[in-house]
Amino acid sequence: MSDSPPFPALPKKDRGARLRRSLLAWYQTQRRDLPWRRTRDPYAIWISEAMLQQTRVATVIDYWRRFLTVFPSIADLAAADEDAVLAAWSGLGYYRRARSLHAAAQAIVERHGGRFPANREQALALPGVGEYTAGAVLSIAYDMPEALVDGNVERVLARVLGAPGAAGSGPLKRFVWAVAHELMPEDDAGLWNQALMELGALVCTPTQPRCSDCPWKRSCAAWASGSPTDIPAPKTRRATQRLDLQGLWVVREGRVVLMQRPEGGAMAGMWELPTRRSEESLPSTLWSAAWPAGLRPRLGAPLMEAQHAITHHRIRIQVLEARVAARIPSPAYEWDFANLEGLPLTGITKKVLAQLGRP
Ligand code: ADE
Repeated sequence: MSDSPPFPALPKKDRGARLRRSLLAWYQTQRRDLPWRRTRDPYAIWISEAMLQQTRVATVIDYWRRFLTVFPSIADLAAADEDAVLAAWSGLGYYRRARSLHAAAQAIVERHGGRFPANREQALALPGVGEYTAGAVLSIAYDMPEALVDGNVERVLARVLGAPGAAGSGPLKRFVWAVAHELMPEDDAGLWNQALMELGALVCTPTQPRCSDCPWKRSCAAWASGSPTDIPAPKTRRATQRLDLQGLWVVREGRVVLMQRPEGGAMAGMWELPTRRSEESLPSTLWSAAWPAGLRPRLGAPLMEAQHAITHHRIRIQVLEARVAARIPSPAYEWDFANLEGLPLTGITKKVLAQLGRP
């Protein structure tokens, strides 16, 4: 038997109408002027939504513009090399999402004549397109009455109705999806979905909600409770792991040694400096042999440190100047600095190259 409190009833019709009216009025005056809100192009909206799922708006703006400059249409994206797609994505993390975008673009060209389908089942059948992305593209680009729930929407709706359940948990998700369907207006679905997300992003924030600015304050169960941030209950988090690395900076005649990460692992196929874990407990004999590709470097001075946070890891790399034997053993490669532009580099490698640059 579960002793958690029951979920509240879905909002009645007149309450739903009041919630819609007040939030849409708020959104008209408070919405941010974001570049993807100035287009109805489903492709441009799809790319913005894929990027916004993992990254802050301020960062996404430049990535989105660049991505659409390099791949102006779904057909261009479909025809591109995967390396070029990963290079345009590099720094955003979650590279599987970039690969899925590429595969989905090819499927859209094959099945739908190069236009993002205005059909829920067809959209959901595309690689990497889940309930959220389908709801976002169909509502924002095509004004179809499709609901969506992301972290912001979950928090906003859980608070206004006073829902029990931990953030991201199955029961809360199911309840919030039901509320989102119930509240969906017949017209202006795209505006409505964006208004919900915008309220979560600007007002109903996780830790310091600005309740005095909220159009829903008087109707909000969490506000009435006196401690709005207790809803939703916190999820049990996976701890962030620290990963301490050492990387080799081997540069000869304007060329830098990089290695490609193996298939099947994290960030597969992306390029990085020859890297090993800083396992200080390893015996020193093993230590010198522990570089990938048997590079056996002669180490020089530490040059710099860089940090990068990705999914559940906090990565730190110490970069060491190094010399290696005249022949670089495969599968390491020497890359001309001039040719790095289109190469998919890991986020931390980009930071190192930006700092050390050309010798
Ligand atoms: N977060 C993700 N997509 C968004 C959108 N279209 N509007 C507001 N916030 C968002």
